[in-house]
Amino acid sequence: MFNDKHSSKILLALVAILLLVTTGYLVVLAATGYDLIDFNALDGPGIGIADERRALLPYALAALVAAILAIGLWVRDRRVEGADSASSSELQRALRSRDTSRAFARRLSTQVDELRSEVGMLGGAENLPELILQLSLELVNADRGAIFKRKGAGSEPRQLVTALGFDGDPRHSAIVNRFAVQAMDRDAIVCHGRDVLEEHRESSVDEEIENVTAIPIFVRDELDGVVVCANSETFGSHDEDVLIALGDQAGAVLKNADLHGELRDSYVATVRMLAEAIRVKDPHLGSHSEDVSGYVGRVAEGLGLDPKRREELVCASLLHDIGKIGISERILLKPGRLNAEEFGVIQLHPRIGSRLVQQVPSLAPLATFILHHHERYDGSGYPAGLKGEEIPLGARVIGVADAFSAMTSDRPYRGRMSLEEACEELERHAGTQFDPDVVRIFADEARLRPPSESEAEPGLGSVLDDPEFQARRPEGEALLGGPRDLTDHLTLLYTHRYFHEVVG
Ligand SMILES: [Fe+2]
Repeated sequence: MFNDKHSSKILLALVAILLLVTTGYLVVLAATGYDLIDFNALDGPGIGIADERRALLPYALAALVAAILAIGLWVRDRRVEGADSASSSELQRALRSRDTSRAFARRLSTQVDELRSEVGMLGGAENLPELILQLSLELVNADRGAIFKRKGAGSEPRQLVTALGFDGDPRHSAIVNRFAVQAMDRDAIVCHGRDVLEEHRESSVDEEIENVTAIPIFVRDELDGVVVCANSETFGSHDEDVLIALGDQAGAVLKNADLHGELRDSYVATVRMLAEAIRVKDPHLGSHSEDVSGYVGRVAEGLGLDPKRREELVCASLLHDIGKIGISERILLKPGRLNAEEFGVIQLHPRIGSRLVQQVPSLAPLATFILHHHERYDGSGYPAGLKGEEIPLGARVIGVADAFSAMTSDRPYRGRMSLEEACEELERHAGTQFDPDVVRIFADEARLRPPSESEAEPGLGSVLDDPEFQARRPEGEALLGGPRDLTDHLTLLYTHRYFHEVVG
């Protein structure tokens, strides 16, 4: 009924009256000051003070002042308590918001790390937007959504990065488009319920949407895109700070994905550059390496290796003979049989290759596969004479694929073996030269899905057809300075000639 201000005044008046009465004053109510003067003159209603009590007046006044002070302090405390209560509620809301945002960031970070460890250097970045969207939908309890990326300046045009849950294509939704643009134009979160959305429905995709929350994504304070979440079960109850944090986290992860993409491009460029170096040394050796990497990829799949290990294995197989770029062409391309010394030099190529890739940190995990790709299952291989499962699995796989590629390639002194002949040859040497399990998986895979007969040779043309390169070659000189039948020295033991002449 009364506010604090009025209550305190009334209380003050009552206390004052009480004090006056208890100290002997007669208290009367007077409408004006004249009434009081008249009271003394007329001996009517007013305040009269008995002479014998007049001495107590200073004490009464002191008590009155104390009462006023006490009441003033009481009123102030009540106001401070009210303010504290409001501020405490605000603080709790901020803490809740911070905890929710941190939980979202932690979850996103953990899942991004898991994704990275699973997919390795070559994959993963393309899955990140979907991961971000999935976690965003969970955060706002929405059942469908999309992420758009800004292309160029302004909010238009924008590119759909990923979408989840929609029956139709969200790009055909007037609602999604309208509010994605609105969030980007305003640099602010946009939330609308059914009442606002009704007038904007144009397509069947729009009919799927009950409510929409559009959250701008910022990367280093620059607007980069927007997350659109639709059909939130808890629509309208989301803390704006949490949604802003969601946009910021999404932006940070997408930026990291871009950086990872650059790192991945650099990794791929390094592998390609080294593979190209092999190819320049001998185009035949280059295409052999590509064949081997193709087979290895398929066997790795059959072995159930995770994407990261598969990727390492494919790159290692592409570079398995990289060490040969350190071997003299006089030996590599020598016609006829190699003497013991020359053969010893050739056998250095796994060590040379392994040391080469160890110089590049991102390629270092490939070194062990390259080092041991000429080991034999029975321990008679090189360079370490490892036996059975002492040989790294990747190296055992490369060994089988290496032999298969050599046997199914044309040689000047013989035609290529058929797929079936090559598989039988592998099976014949399973358990001695090759890992029997790897041979079984490889042969099954090769018979089920025969390798393509003509492998593309990307990148080679760009080097060999370079006019500058051609101009520097003496007229008529063979590019590699030797006949092709020397390729047997490059692939060494795992050739048709090896099986029939060396092994007998
Ligand atoms: Fe080799």
